Amino acid sequence: MSPYAHITGWGMAVPARVMTNADLEKMVDTDDEWIQSRTGIRQRHIANEEESTATLAKDAALNALRVANLNPTEVELIIVSTSSPEYFFPATACLVQDWIGATHAGAFDLSAACSGFIYALNMATQAIRSGSVKNALVIGAETLSRFVNWEDRNTCVLFGDGAGAFVIQAGDEPGGVLTAVMRSDGSGADLLSIPAGGSHLPASPETILNKQHTIHMNGREVFRFATRVIVQATKEVVSSAQLRIEDVQLVIPHQANLRIIEAAMRGLEIPEDQCFVNIERYGNTSTASIPIATCEAIQQGRLHAGDNTVFVGFGAGLTWGAALVRWTGPFLPHRHIYPASYRLWVVIRSKLLRMVRRIEGWIWGRKI
Ligand code: ACO
Repeated sequence: MSPYAHITGWGMAVPARVMTNADLEKMVDTDDEWIQSRTGIRQRHIANEEESTATLAKDAALNALRVANLNPTEVELIIVSTSSPEYFFPATACLVQDWIGATHAGAFDLSAACSGFIYALNMATQAIRSGSVKNALVIGAETLSRFVNWEDRNTCVLFGDGAGAFVIQAGDEPGGVLTAVMRSDGSGADLLSIPAGGSHLPASPETILNKQHTIHMNGREVFRFATRVIVQATKEVVSSAQLRIEDVQLVIPHQANLRIIEAAMRGLEIPEDQCFVNIERYGNTSTASIPIATCEAIQQGRLHAGDNTVFVGFGAGLTWGAALVRWTGPFLPHRHIYPASYRLWVVIRSKLLRMVRRIEGWIWGRKI
């Protein structure tokens, strides 16, 4: 029988720097009342110069490993979902692999915008259910503040930076990620995009001048799309698990706009207290919002072992998806795992590998 994919660890990391609506009032023609009433956002966290998508991803991953009591060396797969990667290549996931010392892990990035965490969770689940992987790390990490046009009030008030991570482990007991749906509609690609910097429109003085390396969005269309697909995907994932909406204890939706969430929950007839919302403090952290919200739901005692939980997201692409999870919690007894203490060893290992590569290059270079 194929193993189940249980979520046994969770962690988050956000930059210390907070940007309030009052701070934004000084930058663009907006006000706290407009932002709160239209979006539900009061503040967001913004990365400083030393922080980036990979550093936030690494911190969230270490926190998740600590909860799961799992050594980095036991991780076999790392998926980083992000729309603001450290580089085009190498993958942000490879940097995380090196920094946490996950010496036995394959690592890759996944791009599905705000739905990415659901996609990544489903990919890791399939790898576990097929038996090819026992322990996986799924990370959603963003520094979209680096891609926001800070003169565009339509978008700059919405986004924040942060990362969240889950440890997924194989287990024989039924539970964990039971079903998932992933959907896309590329006909809406132009509704939410960063137009330049890819092969279609490479960077040039004009693209920089025209601010085409920043987020462009048709807010009203995205709003309509989002309320529709949250309802659809939630219903679909619940019925494919042969459950009813009444059997779901908690919904953790992508945190893009409080009004979107409220409209979708009304459509699903799910009471407010069965839906977790923390957008007021983080803004839209894109693919990181679901794992960050999960960490806070656990801290607040809103999520317990055995609960049927729906994660549901939507975003650029257009993409959307949902997962139905029977919540588990850590598998392994406390083992005094200190993943961060690997740091020194990991730095030495990484430096040694670089040195060996340089020496080899020098030797081979002389021979040729
Ligand atoms: N402050 C003050 N006024 C503003 C601001 C602002 N920050 N932003 C827009 N306005 C103005 C507009 O210019 C417009 O003025 P006008 O009528 O004179 O033209 C007015 O407010 C109303 O604008 P709308 O676009 O109708 O405002 P709406 O109620 O739709 O709210 C919003 C806009 C918040 C962007 C909403 O449409 C929304 O949240 N959409 C979904 C966006 C989203 O979720 N995006 C992320 C997807 S996930 C991913 O993949 C990254």
